[in-house]
Amino acid sequence: MMSKIDLHDYVATVEDYPEPGVSFRDISPLMGDGKAYKEAIDQIVDFAKDLDVDLIAGPESRGFIVGSPLAYALGIGFVPARKSGKLPREAVSASYTLEYGGVNELEIHKDAIRPGQRVLIVDDLLATGGTINATRKIVEELGGVVAGVAFIIELEDLHGREKIMEAGEVPFVALMEY
Ligand code: PRP
Ligand code: ADE
Ligand code: MG
Repeated sequence: MMSKIDLHDYVATVEDYPEPGVSFRDISPLMGDGKAYKEAIDQIVDFAKDLDVDLIAGPESRGFIVGSPLAYALGIGFVPARKSGKLPREAVSASYTLEYGGVNELEIHKDAIRPGQRVLIVDDLLATGGTINATRKIVEELGGVVAGVAFIIELEDLHGREKIMEAGEVPFVALMEY
């Protein structure tokens, strides 16, 4: 059955934020509306159901907002990829650059993923692909198998999807394209 909700209605676009030339796609209205939030998570559950997923991984911060309800809905665990310096135990890290500049580092606890586990990596938005590829690099270094990648929004002009596929073809979904 077709959904009555158009998720595009729940994305706020802010021009020139956080710097000139960037159109910021803010999903706060989507998260703030129970029906829209549920619809978005349900669509990713649908994508995940044939992928034999053992774990969800998501990068801090907005990846937590997508990944946690998804893990709960699927009845599986959630692995946070945290910005550096936040994890108390031994971790593996990878650095990356953002659409609007700056270098960041993500880390996952070493014992969070067992070799061979199938991990679905999720985030709110795909821009240049730096964040997701850093997350993927860590997942794979820990022996995880990337079962797929899922986003609420893909910014097509930044070619993040190509960057992901260059690191190896994986099942992909983005609920909206801008
Ligand atoms: C944003 C967004 C994605 C990432 C996409 O996160 O939530 O994670 O940028 O950009 P990329 O594809 O070019 O890497 P941000 O680092 O701004 O932090 P936040 O999630 O903590 O808001
Ligand atoms: N993260 C990276 N680029 C972004 C954008 N244009 N809008 C929202 N989040 C982003
Ligand atoms: Mg983010």
